[in-house]
Amino acid sequence: MAEHLILDGEGKDERYRSLIPQALALIDGETDQTAALANVGAALAMAFDWLWTGFYLVKNGELVLGPFQGPIACTRIKRGKGVCGTAWDQARTLVVPDVEAFPGHIACSSHSRSEIVVPVFNAAAEVVAVLDVDASHTEAFDETDARYLEQLAAGLGHLF
Ligand code: SME
Repeated sequence: MAEHLILDGEGKDERYRSLIPQALALIDGETDQTAALANVGAALAMAFDWLWTGFYLVKNGELVLGPFQGPIACTRIKRGKGVCGTAWDQARTLVVPDVEAFPGHIACSSHSRSEIVVPVFNAAAEVVAVLDVDASHTEAFDETDARYLEQLAAGLGHLF
């Protein structure tokens, strides 16, 4: 397994294009869910200057905190609550340019200003987890992040 990431490019688009194959290669053949999610999250956190990067896993009808990088966070989120619970409920990516403008946003960190949440689907097309990324400034995420993070999430569904 490679111990280093080679991150080319100044722009976000190029950075994702360089990162995603490497992040997926890191977990190639790895069947342990915790190990795989932990390394993918760490690779994302290394590549970008984000506040919080991690996963919430669907367990017994709620989201439970999984592997993450960043400050301590809420351990459980109910379906339909916050950005994470809404992305799960609606089974779609949510880009939130300003968390203060999102009704019901759960402020795990007072430093979070914008957020993107991307569902992870299993083979039965059920949401089994969400990838949650927070930034300390507004409008950090857009369609480019959504496109690439969805591509990454598609490479994780087999772990569930
Ligand atoms: N802000 C999220 C909660 C998770 S933390 O940001 C890590 C939400 O509203 O679902």
